[in-house]
Amino acid sequence: MRLAIFLLILCIFEYAVAVDQTNFKTCDQSSFCRRCRNVKPDNTKFALVPGTLNIYSDSITADLQHKDNKHLFSLKLEGIEKGDTFRLLIDEKTPLKPRYRVVDSLKEIPKPGSIKVQEGQGELTITSGSNKAVVVADPFRIDFYQNNVLTVSVNAKGLLTFEHLRPKPQELGTDSPDANEVKSSDEITDPGAWEENFKSHHDSKPYGPEAVALDFSFPEAEVLFGIPEHADSFVLKSTSGTDPYRLYNTDVFEYILDSKMALYGSVPVLYGHGPKRTAGVFWQNAAETWVDIYTAEKNVVSSIVNFVSGSSKTDPPAAHFMSESGIIDVFILLGPSPIDVFKQYTELTGSGPLPQMFALAYHQSRWNYNSEDDVEEVSAKFDEYDIPMDTMWLDIEYTDGKRYFTWDKFKFSNPLGMFRNLSKLGRHMVIIIDPHIKRDDQYFFHKDCTERGLYTKTREGKDYEGWCWPGAASYPDFFNPEVRAYYASQYLPSNFKTVTADVMIWNDMNEPSVFNGPEVTMPKDMIHYGNWEHRDVHNLYGHMHVMGTFDGLLGRDPNQRPYILTRSHFAGTQRYASIWTGDNTADWGHLQHSLKMCLSEAVAGFSFCGADVGGFFGNPDAELFARWYQTGAFLPFFRGHAHIDTKRREPWLFPEDTRLIVRDAIRKRYAFLPLWYTMFYEHEMTGEPVMRPLLAHYPQDKEGYNIDYEFLLQDRLLVRPVMDRGASKVNVYFPSTDDKKTGDVWYDINTLKKYTNAGYESLPVDSRTIPVFQRGGTIIPKKERIRRAATLMKNDPYTLVVCLDRAGKAQGTLYIDDEKSYAYRKGEFNYLLFEFENGQLNVNFKSKPNFKTTAWIERVVIAGLDRTPKSATLIVGGVSQDLEVLPHEEGVAIRKPGISVLELFTIRLNF
Ligand SMILES: *[C@@H]1O[C@H](CO)[C@@H](O)[C@H](O)[C@H]1NC(C)=O
Repeated sequence: MRLAIFLLILCIFEYAVAVDQTNFKTCDQSSFCRRCRNVKPDNTKFALVPGTLNIYSDSITADLQHKDNKHLFSLKLEGIEKGDTFRLLIDEKTPLKPRYRVVDSLKEIPKPGSIKVQEGQGELTITSGSNKAVVVADPFRIDFYQNNVLTVSVNAKGLLTFEHLRPKPQELGTDSPDANEVKSSDEITDPGAWEENFKSHHDSKPYGPEAVALDFSFPEAEVLFGIPEHADSFVLKSTSGTDPYRLYNTDVFEYILDSKMALYGSVPVLYGHGPKRTAGVFWQNAAETWVDIYTAEKNVVSSIVNFVSGSSKTDPPAAHFMSESGIIDVFILLGPSPIDVFKQYTELTGSGPLPQMFALAYHQSRWNYNSEDDVEEVSAKFDEYDIPMDTMWLDIEYTDGKRYFTWDKFKFSNPLGMFRNLSKLGRHMVIIIDPHIKRDDQYFFHKDCTERGLYTKTREGKDYEGWCWPGAASYPDFFNPEVRAYYASQYLPSNFKTVTADVMIWNDMNEPSVFNGPEVTMPKDMIHYGNWEHRDVHNLYGHMHVMGTFDGLLGRDPNQRPYILTRSHFAGTQRYASIWTGDNTADWGHLQHSLKMCLSEAVAGFSFCGADVGGFFGNPDAELFARWYQTGAFLPFFRGHAHIDTKRREPWLFPEDTRLIVRDAIRKRYAFLPLWYTMFYEHEMTGEPVMRPLLAHYPQDKEGYNIDYEFLLQDRLLVRPVMDRGASKVNVYFPSTDDKKTGDVWYDINTLKKYTNAGYESLPVDSRTIPVFQRGGTIIPKKERIRRAATLMKNDPYTLVVCLDRAGKAQGTLYIDDEKSYAYRKGEFNYLLFEFENGQLNVNFKSKPNFKTTAWIERVVIAGLDRTPKSATLIVGGVSQDLEVLPHEEGVAIRKPGISVLELFTIRLNF
């Protein structure tokens, strides 16, 4: 025990000392970033080589040459069959050794479609569907047109960099005349090109400089957004005079806000948006990447500069991607609408699968629940205070000395009994499994990895050893399929005997976090499967870890949808896991950033995102705690979590009024679960994000571009949480549908009060208010009988809330299945479409209802009628029945229609 505490203190000490801002590189401290950033614009060295063009039915290839050093590159351009998308690949024609290509990010290899090619004077036009790419040979650039409108330009700024692999300078014989010629035009003189030091860490860089970089301009855009994960605004800021945004999966201790510093995840997709068009680029590269942003700053200085220089038009917004190694593999997504372009991205990398219902409900976590009794008591208290809760979480202290797949036998002597108890209440448990493996000869996992050579290796071929929660630790090489198979097999009931198939998994620290490593991670010259350097694959490590976990959970129970939470992520990880924003802090700024960060993740494929409710570090006061629950209740992933050094903060430990506000917020979440579940089904089917920025549906509303303190859930709800201390009012922005400043009609979800004006509206709030509005024109399914866990509400009746638009119409969907298995993929589900028009509500099945349920509709609420109906008539199978209509808030409620969700029906209002 004492030793364990000592090690823990040592660990925290190590951790706290290893991480402040100066322990992470700036661009200037990174040789490749310096080199790429120093490339002068408007003077590209690259040109296509005449006579090397090959035209195929679905692609073209040509040689690209660096004009000074004459090095040759091969270029390939494909038009992708589905979605308005092109793929551009550039690699060395004959590299000294192969360069890394990402393969695990895409859901499958995208099929190229047929193209038409027209050769012109020094340029080439490639038509794919209604899109075209115009390739200019010299100076090299490509212009992409969607429906004849120039939407994305590649290398328009001339910042293309492709550092070819080369022998180390001293290995090059100086007496060879050839060598001298190459040297003069091809020297890379940056002192960090062949080896680099940062703090006490040395990077041996055996392959020398091998960076790739390219710029993308968006002529139709006014703002750029994307490239999570950063604790910054949704719209990207200009990097002029600052560091570029950095993508390098890193465990940052107490991360700061309004920062371009790298965080735990890297998703290299970036969008350009303007009133008429949205387009994107997906830069598929897993090495460390920096992104410079060129946007006209809306500030006095730039207007003065423009005034002085007499320029009326500034350059279009642009982004400059710079990666340390790999190849150029980029998808150009041509939109034209925001939803189109988000779908084009998920068409490539996949959408998040429909989770089990419990995963969308409320999760209770802390570092740590300390024993089975502790778990039992917390679960019981939720019942005592009548607060719904579906899932209890265990952080690292449940293990036997941070040996994953084992239990601390003193604190958790009967885990199966604990799970059985939770299951009886309809509850679940999630336990943490991290990738660092304790170097302990008695630990089976370590023994297996050592004997079978499953760890990531050093340059000398030894097992790499770092320092993390267990003390000395090694890191399985998840890039090796054999390692993933071994790891997955550990989840089999025959191996992991102390968990049931309902226990789900949290993968943390998988950047990977290495307390004593450079920038708290693994050195770049470590070696992975296939002889790739960690440098080439760093941002994918967590992704490969999660793939192994997903396989493990499926192997354990092929018919149950796995639930995984991961901290590290890359493009495509959304196919396997949900994410959260990592180790945030209990302050108002972090609460506000939880929205901005999840919005950026949502447009990058990660709809299932949330932040630690209450804040991980520090102790929230009652007001912040309550406001955080109110906000978290409307974010996709909803979990309270806290650091081991914080005070216990279960809701009943706060004063009664706070406890009741928290209870109320969680109960609101449960009431909306049918909507959440329907939205996540539709997300899986369409790839459209669940959580959306205003511009997704109001692309012309420029005021809305920079509003990232409110958001949409699909196009049905507008959420504007209270996120300021002492607020007695909030300024809600109702977006406008066109430039004439007319908007939709919105209804307060509690009072059904109607708002008809676009623009800012100052609304009074009290401590209980969560400003959320339903859009006129939508129908939302809810359940209003709240139980202790969502899993117990499966057969409960539905309420439909019909909010009418200006024309008196509305529609909405409801999706129902067993909430747990994959039977829905074989058609066992019901998918209903409700439509209201001319005073009449109709239901249709979007496909044949195949899931048996006793659930029924107990109430229909209608808001926005211009007359009050006297009664209603229900018509089912030709039989009519009168129903009572009662006033309800600022609308009406039709009581007890009592219709099964498996029946077709009509409800007619009688005026
Ligand atoms: C399960 O619940 C029973 C009854 O409340 C309790 O006595 C027992 O300790 C619980 N078991 C575990 C392992 O928590």
